Amino acid sequence: MDTIYITGGRPLAGTLAVQGSKNAVLPILAATAAIPGRFVLGNIPSIEDVRVTRALLEGLGLQLCALEDQITVDSRGPIRSAPDPELAGRLRSSVLLLGALLARLGRAEIPLPGGCVLGERPLDLHLAALKSLGVRVRLEEKRLLCTGRPKGGTVILPYPSVGATENLILAALGASGPVRLIGAAREPEIQDLADFLTACGAKLSGAGTPCLRIEPAPLQGAEHRILPDRMEAASWLCAAAATGGTLRLTDLCPDQLCPVLHVLRQAGCEIQAGEHDLTLRAASLHAPGAIVTGPYPAFPTDAQATVMAALLRASGSTLFRETVFADRFRHVPALCAMGARIETAGDLARVRGVPALHGAEVRATDLRGAAATVIAALAAEGKSVIHDAWHLDRGYGHFIERLQLLGAEAFAE
Ligand code: UD1
Repeated sequence: MDTIYITGGRPLAGTLAVQGSKNAVLPILAATAAIPGRFVLGNIPSIEDVRVTRALLEGLGLQLCALEDQITVDSRGPIRSAPDPELAGRLRSSVLLLGALLARLGRAEIPLPGGCVLGERPLDLHLAALKSLGVRVRLEEKRLLCTGRPKGGTVILPYPSVGATENLILAALGASGPVRLIGAAREPEIQDLADFLTACGAKLSGAGTPCLRIEPAPLQGAEHRILPDRMEAASWLCAAAATGGTLRLTDLCPDQLCPVLHVLRQAGCEIQAGEHDLTLRAASLHAPGAIVTGPYPAFPTDAQATVMAALLRASGSTLFRETVFADRFRHVPALCAMGARIETAGDLARVRGVPALHGAEVRATDLRGAAATVIAALAAEGKSVIHDAWHLDRGYGHFIERLQLLGAEAFAE
């Protein structure tokens, strides 16, 4: 998908089943490299990040077979310790193969795409934690070489990094003794990884709390159904809210969306949540209180851009503070090109509601920023053209079909 064309101004309405979680399936696929076995994974989203991860695993020697929303993985044969550099460079989560390969082989050679991994999105927490478990880490020009099977011990993470927590859990599967992880991230996707590993025989306790414990145990293949994608759900809810629509979502866990639902309710949306479904009805919106992103259970950084897009026409002004990633307001110029009034300064962005947005020709900058740009275009009067729409393929399956299903006038080429 290169370019999306949208004629905005129509309220979205209808029912959607939420896809499986991108951020849960990627570490779970990486985990299949750590454990020799046969795995059946269900509720797999049809997204580019999964396709790249499949190719990465096949390159390591695993056998994968995809059918509809299910992937079967056979990792019982010999596997290699060096993922393909081109594929690994396309995906930040390829770094999770570090923990998985260390657990299985005691060696991992992870390509560094152009050096930017250690700059913009560093790996210092991953590496310091692995070193404290006795792993030798050597940073070369284009790759990270890690050797040695982790030993048991206590690891302290000074910040609850999602990726570092997942890498540590995976590495600990091959450790010679129990590993305690203090300061772990508590995202639901980590709980899903823990549930999968427990089904494989892992002795893992404390997932969902800051203190995890993993003990050595014999491991084998297992079946697992991937958790619903709370970020995809948040995006569709924001699209409905921005357009004054009515949306029913099924196959999701509303409890995991609490901070997003809270903000949308404060803004005036009526939301009724069941155990695995929810219905949102939007009318005219007003600015909710300040929104501050943070590690789970705080407001998720991955919903910052889409919620911002939903509030562009809300009366009053909304202050956003982004504490997780520097430089995560890259969607703002595209929203402003559609008539939004947003001022940014460092980690702050203030949105002043405008009565109307207008269509514009803009460029998507990143996955969630692209979703925010689409949401603004849906709420705008007239036609918009969104270039670099391929960002959406990374995390949203059947995106245009689903938009059309909800009544949007949108097509892609
Ligand atoms: C994961 C998610 C991403 C989400 C993010 C935060 C996946 C595939 N991606 O990314 O969608 O936005 O969690 O919820 O699950 N940091 C360091 N040093 C490190 C590691 C991280 O400084 O060694 C910093 C990062 O630069 C960032 C912050 O910590 O500023 C959070 O990063 P982290 O929680 O690791 O996010 P990811 O695992 O990359």
